[in-house]
Order: sequence, then structure tokens, then C-alpha cells
Amino acid sequence: MDNEYKASITGVGSFLPEKVLTNDDLSKMLDTTDEWITKRTGIKERRIVENGVAASDLAVEASLRALDDANVLPTEVDLIIASTITPDCLFPSTSCYIQEKLGARNAGAFDLLAACAGFVYALSVARSFVASGAMKTVLVVGTECMSKITDYTDRSTCILFGDGAGAVVVQQGNGRREIITTYLGSDGSQAELLMLPAGGSRLPASHETVDSRSHYIKLRGKEVFKQAIINMVDVITRAATENNMRVEDFDMIIPHQSNIRIIEAAMEKLKLPKEKAYINIDRYGNTSSASIPIAMDEIEKGGVLKPGSTAILVAFGGGLTWSSSIIKW
Ligand code: UT7
Repeated sequence: MDNEYKASITGVGSFLPEKVLTNDDLSKMLDTTDEWITKRTGIKERRIVENGVAASDLAVEASLRALDDANVLPTEVDLIIASTITPDCLFPSTSCYIQEKLGARNAGAFDLLAACAGFVYALSVARSFVASGAMKTVLVVGTECMSKITDYTDRSTCILFGDGAGAVVVQQGNGRREIITTYLGSDGSQAELLMLPAGGSRLPASHETVDSRSHYIKLRGKEVFKQAIINMVDVITRAATENNMRVEDFDMIIPHQSNIRIIEAAMEKLKLPKEKAYINIDRYGNTSSASIPIAMDEIEKGGVLKPGSTAILVAFGGGLTWSSSIIKW
């Protein structure tokens, strides 16, 4: 892509609800153990919102932190893109609620749905608007209340998910955290592997959909597991090749946090040391599209990556969808 401008991430922020749900808590609710969950997923605990809290509430907290980090006022934002599979409601968009709560009165706002890969999809859109010169300041938020669509009677899924939000501000390049590339992929033929069946136009809400627990996430774990490894490896390799790099040139892989075994298997296939992958799944579980910006915020605030390092964001999720983005930190 011939960019008129370079697009950079000028601010990062995240927000996690205070309430912690540990593996031991889950083992009191259903037939599971801390040992099984830790060994099979790497998760020790996750954060859960209180009743009445919605995705836009988490998003606003993360956004305020990102805007503050970028030294940008809400009124200076041209566009808000919220990536979420747990919107406040089916419509209007969660990003409109975020726009109102932030007082971002000069911003357009829309939601983008690409499940766990959605944050990188949204980053790609933001980069294009900024790089073309059409917009100066885009706020990108990944925000999820996964606990609201999680079936706490299904031990194969309820152990995985947590709530949280992360946000970034994308503006014309300032020499830091430049978005070098983004790659997006999808395979709708495997849509049924990971989905929430009811509540849309295919299967509207009814007594039957409630009785059959069809408003909760359905996951065919083993198949998704395999696809996640294949596509994460592919989208990292492709990003490296198309930029005349080797995968070992990446100083850090910042993966979507879905299962430690998926991340470790991908690193092994790439022949990279597993220490190069940023991991926080032990503390937050799978927060879907929030996981990458939460990790980016921890990396930035913790000084984990030196300026000038090259990182790659990589995500995979329902759709199926996958995405990657090279960032010059
Ligand atoms: O973010 C989007 C992408 N999402 C993912 O990437 C999720 C990908 N999938 C996974 O992470 C894994 O498939 C799971 C963590 C969901 C499941 O792990 P697994 O190693 O694939 O386990 P499994 O489903 O094959 O189950 C193995 C055994 C079964 O028992 P039997 O049939 O061998 O007797 C399950 O019933 O483990 C049992 N099991 C559990 N046992 C204790 C399943 N869940 C649990 C549990 N506690 N929570």
C-alpha cells in the first residue's frame, strides 16, 4: 500500500474489572480442577464484571487511559471503532455509547465484528484512514464482557473466558509504534466451530432458544485448537516473507491469548523460543478482542520492549478469522 502518511499508535490504555474468578472458584461451581485448567489452558484466573456493567463501560475506562497516554482530547477524535462480540445491545453500536460517554462529539463511530481477531482488523481499518490522510485521529477499542455469553454449566468453555478492554489511539506517524503492515484472513466454511447461535436474524430469541441455552458460546475446542495453530503460523510467516524479514527478526510475538498450548505449539512450528511470545493468559484468560490491546498496554507500561524493536500482533478467532500486524515499537 502506498501510504501518503505513516500511521502510529500514539497512546495505549487498558481496563480490567476488579472481580477475580479463580480456577478454585470454578471447581466449586462444576466438575473441574485447578490442575486440569492450568495444564490444558495455562489459565489460573480471569476477571469478571459486576451485574449491570456492559462492554461500553469497560471501553470508556480503557479509552480514557489511551487518550491520556496520547495527550489527545475526546473532542479531537475523528473516528471510534469498537471491536466486540459482546456489544451492549444488538443496535445501536457499542461505539456510539462509547462516543457519548467520552464526549467525543466530533467522532464517527461504528462497531467491527471479527471475534478474537477483531482488534487487529480494526487496527487495519484505522491505519488505512490515517495513512490515506482521510482522518487524523482514530480510537480503536477491543472490549468484551465474555462472562455475559459464557455458559457456567459447560466446563469445556466456561473455564476459558474473561472480561476486559484495551484501547489504542492511531495517528499520523510520530516515529514510535509505527504500524508497518496488517494482514487479514477468514474462512466462513468453518463458522460453526465457534459461535453464539441465537439472538440474530437466523434464530431470534424465543423461549426455546433460552431453554436450549443457545444464547451462550458454542465451541468445538479440538478443531478450533488445530485451526488456530495453522493460521497463526501462516499469518506470521506471510507477514515476515512479504516484508523481506525472517520470523526470527521479530523481537516479540504478541499473540491473542486463547490457550497457552496453542501459543507454544505455534512458537515451536515457527522454531522460535517460547519466551519470545508475550503471555498474560494466566491472569485474564481469553478476553477475545481485548486480549491484544491489554497485552500491548502491559508491554508499554512495563517497558518490556525497547523503542525500535519489531513486534508482531497475531490473532485468531470465530468466523473463522485471523490477522497479524507488524509494529515498529
Ligand atoms: O479465542 C478463540 C479461539 N478459541 C480457542 O482457541 C479454544 C481452543 N480450544 C481449546 O483451548 C481446547 O480445546 C479446550 C481447552 C477447550 C479443551 O482442551 P482439550 O485438551 O481439547 O480437551 P478435550 O475437549 O479433548 O477434553 C479432554 C477431556 C474430556 O474428557 P474425556 O472425554 O477424555 O473423558 C473432557 O470431558 O477433558 C474433559 N474436560 C474437562 N475436565 C476437567 C473438558 N473440560 C474440562 C474441565 N475440567 N474444565
